[in-house]
Amino acid sequence: MVSYLNTPPKGEKNKIAIQDSYTSKSEYKGEFAKWYASSIEEFGGPHSVVIPAMICLLPCRLYGLQIADIGCGSGILSRELALRGAEVLGVDLSEDMLELARQAEERIHLGIVYQQDDACVLSSVTDHSQDAVTMCLSLTDMPNIEAVFSQISRILKFGGCLIASLPHPCAPCSSHIGLDYPQHSYYEEIRWMSSNRQSVRGRIPTYHRPLSLYINLALQHGLVLERMLEPQPSPLLLARYPQYERVPYMLVLRFRLQCFRPQENETWQK
Ligand SMILES: C[S@@+](CC[C@H](N)C(=O)[O-])C[C@H]1O[C@@H](n2cnc3c(N)ncnc32)[C@H](O)[C@@H]1O
Repeated sequence: MVSYLNTPPKGEKNKIAIQDSYTSKSEYKGEFAKWYASSIEEFGGPHSVVIPAMICLLPCRLYGLQIADIGCGSGILSRELALRGAEVLGVDLSEDMLELARQAEERIHLGIVYQQDDACVLSSVTDHSQDAVTMCLSLTDMPNIEAVFSQISRILKFGGCLIASLPHPCAPCSSHIGLDYPQHSYYEEIRWMSSNRQSVRGRIPTYHRPLSLYINLALQHGLVLERMLEPQPSPLLLARYPQYERVPYMLVLRFRLQCFRPQENETWQK
C-alpha cells in the first residue's frame, strides 16, 4: 500500500542547517504586522486565489468540524472557515498578528478562538482533536517543518486532512510586486530574502525548499498526498505582470492522515 515510500527522495541532498538562527519569536510584529494584515485584505494578490482553492479542498459542509488554522496570522482564512460553520482554532507565534485577529473577532463575532503557540510544539492542542488543519502561506515561514508535520499528525484525527498553501516551490519568488529570481539552487533548503524591500519577502525572510522535501516529510508522518492544485494569479495581477502567465504561482496541497503509520523499527527509507 505504501511501497512508494521506498522511492529514494530526490532533491534532499542539500538540506542545510538553518535551524540555529531560529529563536521561536515571530518576525510579524509591530508596524510590519499591521502593514501585512492590511495589504492582504486590500490587494488581489495570493490570498485571492489560495483561499478559494483551499476551501474547495475542504468538505462542502463544515458545520461542527474542528479546524486548526496554523500560522493563522490576522485570521483571514480562519474567518472564512468559521463563516462556513467550522469551529476554528487559530494558532500563531505572533502575539501582534493574533491581536489583529482578535480585534476582527470583536468586530464580527464568529466564535473563533485564537491561541499563541509554536507550530513546532502545539502544546495548546490535544492529540487527535482536529478534523482538519489548514496552513495558509505559513509553512514557508517555519524553520523546522519536520517538527511541524509531526505535530500536525499528532493533533489530526485519523482520516483528517491537512490543507496547505504555499508559493509554488518550482517558481521564482512570487509576490504582488512581480517576480523575483533568487540566486539559490532549487534543490537547496534555504532561508532567503528578496532584494525588493517593497515586498513581504524583502522585509521578512522565507524558506525555499524543493517540493519533494514537503511531500516526503509529510509522508514520513503518515500524511498522504491526496490532491494538488496550482491556482493561477488573479486577472488583476496578470494584467500588471503578464510574465506570471508563464510560470507556476501558488501550490495548494491536501494530505490525509492515514491510520496505518510506519513504525520506528521498520526499515523504510526516510
Ligand atoms: C505569511 S504569514 C500568513 C498568515 C496567514 N495565514 C495569512 O494567510 O495571512 C505567516 C504566519 O506564520 C506565523 N508563523 C511563523 N512561524 C510560526 C510558528 N513556528 N508557529 C506558528 N506560527 C508561525 C507568522 O507569525 C505569520 O503570522
